[in-house]
Amino acid sequence: MGRTGRKRKSKKLSGEDGLYKVVRDTETIELMQWLTRNGWKKEVTLYPTEFSTTGRGLMTKTALKKGDILVKIPFHLLITAHTVCKSEIYDYLDKNVKYDGHEILAFYLVWERHLNKDSFWYPYINTLPQQLSTPLFWSKEPVNLPKFISEEIEGSRNSMKESHNHFLNHIVCKQKVCDHCKLALDEIFNEKDFIWAWCIVNTRAIYIPPEKDLHNISNSLALAPFLDLFNHVPSAQVEAMLIPTENSYQVKTLVPVSKYDQVFIEYGAHSNLKLLIDYGFTVPNNQHDAIALSLDDIYEVIKQVAQVSRVNMSQEKYKFLKQHNLMKKPCLTREGLCWKAMSIVFILTSEITNIKLLESKVYSSLYTPDEINAINTVGAILVQNKIDEFKKHVALFVPTEDDQNAVLAYLKECLDLLSECLEKCK
Ligand SMILES: C[S@@+](CC[C@H](N)C(=O)[O-])C[C@H]1O[C@@H](n2cnc3c(N)ncnc32)[C@H](O)[C@@H]1O
Ligand SMILES: [Zn+2]
Repeated sequence: MGRTGRKRKSKKLSGEDGLYKVVRDTETIELMQWLTRNGWKKEVTLYPTEFSTTGRGLMTKTALKKGDILVKIPFHLLITAHTVCKSEIYDYLDKNVKYDGHEILAFYLVWERHLNKDSFWYPYINTLPQQLSTPLFWSKEPVNLPKFISEEIEGSRNSMKESHNHFLNHIVCKQKVCDHCKLALDEIFNEKDFIWAWCIVNTRAIYIPPEKDLHNISNSLALAPFLDLFNHVPSAQVEAMLIPTENSYQVKTLVPVSKYDQVFIEYGAHSNLKLLIDYGFTVPNNQHDAIALSLDDIYEVIKQVAQVSRVNMSQEKYKFLKQHNLMKKPCLTREGLCWKAMSIVFILTSEITNIKLLESKVYSSLYTPDEINAINTVGAILVQNKIDEFKKHVALFVPTEDDQNAVLAYLKECLDLLSECLEKCK
């Protein structure tokens, strides 16, 4: 949020989502006035509200029925690749190069933000958070961040840097001085502002059907003012779609919502690790959560438990796992071992070598009680090993700033999931 707004007094209220406070700062009021001036009509009354549980989100002032439209945003208030192509800054990009939707929106956002009040989008940009809680915004490294998390963060940082370099390399006449601020283009598109814009797009963009007639941009992303104030829960039931006949993008609730409750949407079937890296938060009891396993994790346990002679990692079995794509993302879930993990354990411990028979077992999951027992014996040890590993992570991890507490919340959620998983292996 912009820091300059005059804050009006507002009362703290409490409800299902703990304490909440309707946001009535100048920036939010100006956003609503700007939307209305530009043809936006509210469908139901949703207040931007600060919740103690999730931070700023949207609260409904009235009880909502199944099928109520929550918001309808006119096309011309969405920032899409089309918007960028029509803008003056697009003239400074090399048109012979391909750009993706994420980077083109980030690029545009840097430009429009630098125009400040001279940008059409100023009332929107002024309500965007200046600081994000995502890992790319951490100013200090935490102590003993688990390697699998730091690798994910590194992957995210590399994508962002690649996008930034891609633009810097394809801005025509980087030294050109902007009439508005007298800065050169490569100063305007500096890394710090690009990271902010890239993370804003990452955390807030919605998916739209790919736009046509954009020869050098693959785009199915859009920034949607106001709509991007919805927070996420995996259990949210909404339907979002473009309505071409009305020139708008709308979100409908598929379930009733009580008066004064926060209204959530679902950003996608995201695991907590994905939420942590891309959005900077996790949700308790996330039904889409899973803990990744490697073939080595599984193989080591099998060597421990099964008689070595039964561990028959023949070339054929290895080929079988590869050909059937079974080594790609086996995991542990609240329901126990995922079917890929079960299949790997079964294949590596089974005496069966006939490929057709293995295939029919694995794809039907019709295991005998003895086979299930054997899989669960290995499964329980695998899960216990992961529990020990995650307990160590929790004991060693030290956050160096508040936003890094999300990592601790994440690790504890993993431990909860693992203990449910262990029960399923008994
Ligand atoms: C699309 S924005 C939602 C609006 C945002 N809270 C704001 O104030 O502008 C996505 C960001 O909201 C926050 N968020 C969304 N859902 C959340 C939740 N269930 N718990 C905590 N933070 C959440 C995260 O910071 C995420 O990166
Ligand atoms: Zn300028």
